[in-house]
Amino acid sequence: MQYGVDVASTRLDDLDKRVLTSVRERIARGEAVTVLDVGCGQGGLSLALAALGAQVTALDIINYEESLQAQFPKTDTTINFIQADIRDWLATSSNEDFDIVVLQRVLHYLPHEDACSVLRKLRSVTDVVHLAITGTSTVIASYYENLAQPLPLRWGKLDPVGQELFSITAPLCLYAEEDVRTLLAETGWRIDWLRVSDFGNIKLGATATNV
Ligand SMILES: C[S@@+](CC[C@H](N)C(=O)[O-])C[C@H]1O[C@@H](n2cnc3c(N)ncnc32)[C@H](O)[C@@H]1O
Repeated sequence: MQYGVDVASTRLDDLDKRVLTSVRERIARGEAVTVLDVGCGQGGLSLALAALGAQVTALDIINYEESLQAQFPKTDTTINFIQADIRDWLATSSNEDFDIVVLQRVLHYLPHEDACSVLRKLRSVTDVVHLAITGTSTVIASYYENLAQPLPLRWGKLDPVGQELFSITAPLCLYAEEDVRTLLAETGWRIDWLRVSDFGNIKLGATATNV
């Protein structure tokens, strides 16, 4: 697989569970909740959110519509799937508002400049993002030759061994915790919580600021 393992299709992690808890609480208060799941993959998180009663839009550059639809009867849910590159979708057709936008393990598949642009534009569709991004202290980073490059130039593939090991053949940009803090601050987001996982992945929730 070009973009590595689709973790959410087999298990939900702490970030997914935070999002689910927040959605569950809002729905319990009688609120309607809308979520955009960017880079949804096979839709593990999208399906869990829809099962709670959230209105979910699942977006991925790869067409997962059939595999998602196959799971609807089992989970008694429906999801609006959009096949698009998040960059194109934000540039052309994003006139909807979402209570929450999730970017689980996807932002590092954009060049830094594009990640900045996506985060800036997301402020026009939501006030709340949750994201996980591959960190420079992950094992993956030891197979990444561009690690020492400054962020604007930090873009490239893992070496052949890394590509094989992690099933990641797409180019990527890895982030240190400080890089992520700067990325969010410069694109108009205040970090509400941030943790670096045992594997070195950086996970956070953030709220739009008024810059
Ligand atoms: C590692 S998978 C993550 C899947 C799921 N969110 C999870 O956490 O397990 C990354 C996903 O991002 C999608 N993706 C990569 N670049 C994208 C882009 N520019 N726009 C939309 N989706 C993209 C890939 O197709 C893939 O499904």
